[in-house]
Amino acid sequence: KVVAVIMVGGPTKGTRFRPLSFNTPKPLFPLAGQPMVHHPISACKSIPNLAQIFLIGFHEEREFALYVSSISSELKIPVRYLKEDKPHGSAGGLHYFKDLIMEDNPSHIFLLNCDVCCSFPLPEMLDAHRRYGGMGTLLVIKVSAESASEFGELVADSVTKELLHYTEKPETFVSDLINCGVYVFTPEIFNVIHDVHTQHEDRANLHTLSSYDALRLATKTPTKDFVRLDQDILSPLAGKKQLYTYETMDFWEQIKTPAMSLKCSALYLAQFRFNSPGLLACGDGIKNPTVVGDVYIHPSAKVHPTAKIGPNVSISANVRVAAGVRLISCIILDDAEIQGEGDYKRKLGITILGEAVTVEDEVVVVNSIVLPNKVLNISVQEEIIL
Ligand code: GDD
Repeated sequence: KVVAVIMVGGPTKGTRFRPLSFNTPKPLFPLAGQPMVHHPISACKSIPNLAQIFLIGFHEEREFALYVSSISSELKIPVRYLKEDKPHGSAGGLHYFKDLIMEDNPSHIFLLNCDVCCSFPLPEMLDAHRRYGGMGTLLVIKVSAESASEFGELVADSVTKELLHYTEKPETFVSDLINCGVYVFTPEIFNVIHDVHTQHEDRANLHTLSSYDALRLATKTPTKDFVRLDQDILSPLAGKKQLYTYETMDFWEQIKTPAMSLKCSALYLAQFRFNSPGLLACGDGIKNPTVVGDVYIHPSAKVHPTAKIGPNVSISANVRVAAGVRLISCIILDDAEIQGEGDYKRKLGITILGEAVTVEDEVVVVNSIVLPNKVLNISVQEEIIL
């Protein structure tokens, strides 16, 4: 049997996603009309002998309850949300729920970051992992040398694909091959995490409390039971014939900012063309609005037939779009009302970012319309940026 674990983090981790995640926890923010976490979950369907899917995070349980029960019955695979009492780190969180994860005695455990957008080639990874015969296999991708430092950079053997060297977000360039945040492990990984945990405890006991605090502040380690998968596990295990890599040639993006959510929504809509064409809207301009390119419209949304929607638009539940409205490259959240020309500012529930708009980090855009190709470096509210 195989199980899958998706790390969904918690409120302190999602701060860069504001203002879009004020009401919705980031993992449930809609991309292509489906909650962000839905994309990795539905990719898990293709794993042979999948027994269970766990979501591990420190968001409130009630925020996930509805989604988890509906997706469990849809997939006919138990999907459970497990809440940490506090953040334990990407490996610590996994270890914290070891007994539950191991209850079906799985031979393999998939571990997925929820904030990545890709085609999740999970069965292919599992096949490669079995061939390599190691403890873990990482999904990796080549990115531009300039962007590589935002991720875990790694070096792999070109023939055996063994992970030879791993550095998390290095200051000086190591490699343009990076960690995608998608892994498959054998249960032995729990022993490794356990050992690191014990080392942390020993270190804590050796020091007086205050010097230990200084140490963990210096190493950015919040508490002694906090174990990071990248720095604490992958780096030391590299070059020991335990970890291997599987390179994807398909799309891959990280979803840390609101602007990235729009790009990833487009990537998933484009993927629907191949795997779920039924989810894409097709408009006729008579009973239904005119649809351009890839568009998702929730069945409960009311879009006026004279509206023109797309490309890259995702319209959530109960949205109302008035006559003559033109929507391009945007995500319209639940219950938003977009009124006709001249009036659309008044009751707009959501920001619309035009195509190729850049919203710089920490900039808050509320109830505004931003026309294409703008760079926003200051916060705006109730504004139309022309
Ligand atoms: N449950 C839980 N508890 N989840 C956590 C915790 C925790 O304490 N800490 C992080 N996570 C989740 C995040 O929500 C995210 O899905 C994933 O674990 C990784 O988050 P970070 O540890 O903050 O790392 P990152 O996203 O900056 O970078 C990681 O992913 C990149 C790919 O997107 C690294 O592994 C990079 O090497 C990698 O390139």
